Amino acid sequence: MNSLSDRINNLSTSQTLAMAALARELKAQGKDIISLSLGEPDFNTPDFIKEAAKKAIDENYSTYSPVDGYAELKEAICRKFKRDNNLDYKPANIVVSTGAKQSLYNIAQCMLNEDDEVILPAPYWVSYYEIIKMSGGIPVEVPTSVESDFKITAEQLEKAITPKTKMIWYSSPCNPSGSVYIREEFTAIAKVLEKYPNIYVVADEIYEHINFSGTFCSIASVPGMFERTITVNGVAKAFAMTGWRIGYIGAPEFIAKACTKMQGQVTSGANSIAQRATIAAVDADPKVLNYMVEAFHKRRDLVVGLIKAIPGLKINVPEGAFYVFPDVSSYFGKTLRGTLIKDATDFSMYLLAEANVATVTGDAFGNPDCIRFSYATSEELLTEAMRRIKEVLA
Ligand SMILES: Cc1ncc(COP(=O)(O)O)c(C=O)c1O
Repeated sequence: MNSLSDRINNLSTSQTLAMAALARELKAQGKDIISLSLGEPDFNTPDFIKEAAKKAIDENYSTYSPVDGYAELKEAICRKFKRDNNLDYKPANIVVSTGAKQSLYNIAQCMLNEDDEVILPAPYWVSYYEIIKMSGGIPVEVPTSVESDFKITAEQLEKAITPKTKMIWYSSPCNPSGSVYIREEFTAIAKVLEKYPNIYVVADEIYEHINFSGTFCSIASVPGMFERTITVNGVAKAFAMTGWRIGYIGAPEFIAKACTKMQGQVTSGANSIAQRATIAAVDADPKVLNYMVEAFHKRRDLVVGLIKAIPGLKINVPEGAFYVFPDVSSYFGKTLRGTLIKDATDFSMYLLAEANVATVTGDAFGNPDCIRFSYATSEELLTEAMRRIKEVLA
């Protein structure tokens, strides 16, 4: 008999983490696996951030921090929102959490009642779906495709709205598609939302700085949107700080208060040393990240070129983050080296078995025609991975 709760029994395991674990296991068995499955920069945290953490240890930042984050960090985050996004958040609008993942979980727990609908433009980040479900909400997927650069239109959004719609969640730059919404697209979306004043938007901007398009728009800066947007960000991706676990939100004050109340009962304030280090990160001129962004940009160009040379794979040119999301559906129904490829999961498993390359099936992101590659690895490994893939698809 299964004594676990329905809650956990109904929860899916994170497929990105599962694939990464499988790749690690095969590697440990001696297989020459190239893992393109995880969303993690292959850079070290910049030295000036590490120095700030060392200083915080020496200065004895070792006690519980305020639940919503140190005042100095919240002020620094307000300066960052003003500098980068032209958003006028005050410290009372800010909540610092244990990663953007906890920020998102807090939001779902604080905003959703049973059967509230949340619109998810698909593909979406894996955890949105499960976090929403776990919080009693109903994810409503709005499909997009490589042809539309994986972006939804204002018309598609309006069609998906029902009397039960409570929120819309998206990331831009998007994990997994790399797509970046521009101001005109958000303005059209905002115009639709004008008619539905009770709908809130969760804008996940964690890949903000890993953006090659030269333009970035926070939907909260579009007229009419500030009071109904929860802007989510964090230091994991752009600052190569995935393990430090610091994320944050800028939100209407009543939502910030609710999220603080929630995490006060669950985790308390985020890690004290990591918060002090984050002050240095968010206060820094984003130009200090240029060397990483330029490396990702170069790899993006390399991988897009190599994928375009593989017959049967269709891609958009991702403008940000560090993923490519090719449509592999032209292989469905084909038999390769004795293996029938029925869907994207079969395709991804085939690449693992035959090419020793780990990817993630698009099913995990709500798009069953695609698979996701992370290009947060060296150009040598990327070139070798694409060579192997081309070979096993020939
Ligand atoms: C779109 C998106 N949002 C949030 C997160 C989680 O960020 P954090 O590591 O700060 O919890 C990720 C990490 O993969 C992500 O891709």
